[in-house]
Amino acid sequence: MTGSLKTMVSYVKGRANVSPATAVVLGSGLGHMAENVEGGVKVPYGDIPGYPQPTVEGHSGELILGNLRGEKVVMASGRFHLYEGWDLETVTLPIKLFHELGVKNLILTNSAGSVQVQNGPGTLMAITAHLDFTYQESSDTPLIVNEDRYHSSGLLHIAGESAERNRIDLKEGVYAWALGPSYETPAEIDLIRELGGHAVGMSTVPEIRAAGELGMNILTISCLTNYAAGVVEAPITHEEVITSAAEAGERFGKLLTSIIEDLGGTE
Ligand code: HPA
Repeated sequence: MTGSLKTMVSYVKGRANVSPATAVVLGSGLGHMAENVEGGVKVPYGDIPGYPQPTVEGHSGELILGNLRGEKVVMASGRFHLYEGWDLETVTLPIKLFHELGVKNLILTNSAGSVQVQNGPGTLMAITAHLDFTYQESSDTPLIVNEDRYHSSGLLHIAGESAERNRIDLKEGVYAWALGPSYETPAEIDLIRELGGHAVGMSTVPEIRAAGELGMNILTISCLTNYAAGVVEAPITHEEVITSAAEAGERFGKLLTSIIEDLGGTE
């Protein structure tokens, strides 16, 4: 990483005079949410001194700062994955930037594969716990991590209530973090299911860890864009992931907007 965090923070503060309480990391299919931000200032990553540029299709790369239903927000469209070759410092950089901007509540979104046949493509799932299926830190059997500092029970409660009020089906489950870049094998998915995982994806856990250490309230919601390997016979394609995320985008955006509105006053 080039450039210091301090330089980046002062650049963003200079562009947008907002002190956001809530940050949202937009996964694929959610780019349209930026359009609902009132008085939104868009700051392309390329403008921020030393900020990296994402490379994955379906992610653009900008921060959007403004008001959403009266709540001060910052949104990040475009994220950095370890499988693209970025280091942990870069992957977690947006979280540190949010923290410096004064963010208290962090909403992380992502696309994930569904480990369970009853949760078809398009299912939205609030993440109550995660497990590290990367085997990077240890070769021991991964354990389920459900600490409140990583998965805020308060925010999960708000998410559940918002979903009910908007008649949006929101499941709850455990997110298994796999390294990628290939999709998993059916045998790996069987093991993830045995370990208690319901969704599998290649992002988010580094961000959860970083934000948890910084004391933010964290809510993660996955859009299950496809059946994980071996759950059904059809092969997984990146196109299916992008298409399903786009189809669920409107419903997902509506839920997120309602959650952000309900966050008013909780800091
Ligand atoms: N596996 C891992 N990551 C994913 C998947 C999947 O099936 N779908 C979307 N992201």
